[in-house]
Amino acid sequence: MDTNTITTAPSSVSYPFDDPYPWYKSLNDKSPLSRISPGQWMVTGYDEALFFLQSPDCSHWGQDIESQSMMTPVQKAIAKTLHALAPGNDLLYRKTIMHQLAGKNLKIEDTYIQDVSDRILKRIKSDATIELMSTYAHPFTFHVISRMIGVPEDKISALSNHIEKLNGSYLDYMSGSRENQDVYFLKFLEELISEKSKKPENDLCSLLVNASRQNNEEPFFTISMLILLFYAGHENMMNFIGNAVIALHNNPMLQKQLRANPEVITDFIDELLRFDSPLQFIVLFTKEDIERHGKFIPAGSQVLVGVGAANRDPKVFENPDQLEFTRKPNHLSFGAGAFRCIGSKLARLEGAIAIRSLLTNSSSFDFTTQNITWRKGNFVQRGPLSLTLNIMWND
Ligand code: HEM
Repeated sequence: MDTNTITTAPSSVSYPFDDPYPWYKSLNDKSPLSRISPGQWMVTGYDEALFFLQSPDCSHWGQDIESQSMMTPVQKAIAKTLHALAPGNDLLYRKTIMHQLAGKNLKIEDTYIQDVSDRILKRIKSDATIELMSTYAHPFTFHVISRMIGVPEDKISALSNHIEKLNGSYLDYMSGSRENQDVYFLKFLEELISEKSKKPENDLCSLLVNASRQNNEEPFFTISMLILLFYAGHENMMNFIGNAVIALHNNPMLQKQLRANPEVITDFIDELLRFDSPLQFIVLFTKEDIERHGKFIPAGSQVLVGVGAANRDPKVFENPDQLEFTRKPNHLSFGAGAFRCIGSKLARLEGAIAIRSLLTNSSSFDFTTQNITWRKGNFVQRGPLSLTLNIMWND
């Protein structure tokens, strides 16, 4: 999940959505840390990114009370859930969710996730041209996170179709305001919580209902937490699939190697995540003055940690602009340190199944246009808005 959606874009520049990597490089060639506007800094170097992500002198977006007082109601609701999930507090949420998304439970889900992918591919395999994001990336990733949350199987498709229409605006629902809102999603979550309260099962919603009860939370808090989980588990994964398919399309030799050895895709997911991260920035605030590389960053500054840029730092990755078959990168796409993504195991498993299934069910694909339209609402996340492929399916 990106905890940074609501921050302003780097304000002194027009962010190059189509291909930000040359811009990152030009900054990083001068310094791994640049001031990009008054009070706003950007990190492009790997070591520097590690330093800031783990610095006790920085807080993650939403974590410090001072910045919360300046937030809109939606931002406050998001901050409250992130605060509840933060490492090191006495609340049960982070541990509970991490435990549920740990290896033992995911082993059980492996077959299920494969089955979701098989079913969707079977449905679209009659079409020689597909729009990948809406026909595969969206329904697949939404179905998986719905299952983890505990949405009954027979209700997932209708919810998925509804969510697609929201166009990534999940977080607007987090404040609980129903003004100008389509209330279907909120009502759905209320009913889900009520069902899981009566009859808990082995899913994230039941665990959250229980933890919220123990922590005496206001009733709407559980809904906010569920929205955060949907968002975290869905948006990044969907963008990952889009970015990975573009990367494979642009690297036909490597695609051929993967098609010949589909079992190695599991090990290749991290290189795809390094090469074009679905999350480009993690936003921090400095709690204390910090001095680095002769630069002085006053307390209260915003630091945009460019994990997408750091993943291409030539000091750490040889030929960083190349996607490499055998590379085992220690990338920063999931963050680093105590705040690192708690869904990373699920993300790797799901990502591998999504890409392997697409490759094993087809012999080739090609874009119908070379001009990809990237999502442009928010510079923190990176992924294609749509991706139309001519695809040669296997029987
Ligand atoms: C490729 C997919 C994914 C990427 C790139 C990604 C990346 C990240 C990053 C960078 C963070 C924040 C780390 C920080 O603040 O330092 C994060 C947090 C989080 N991620 Fe993921 N994530 C992905 C998939 C998932 C999935 C499938 C889930 C499943 C539920 C998930 C759940 C979360 C949650 C709940 C948080 C917030 C926890 C907190 O505040 O510390 N993520 N993710």
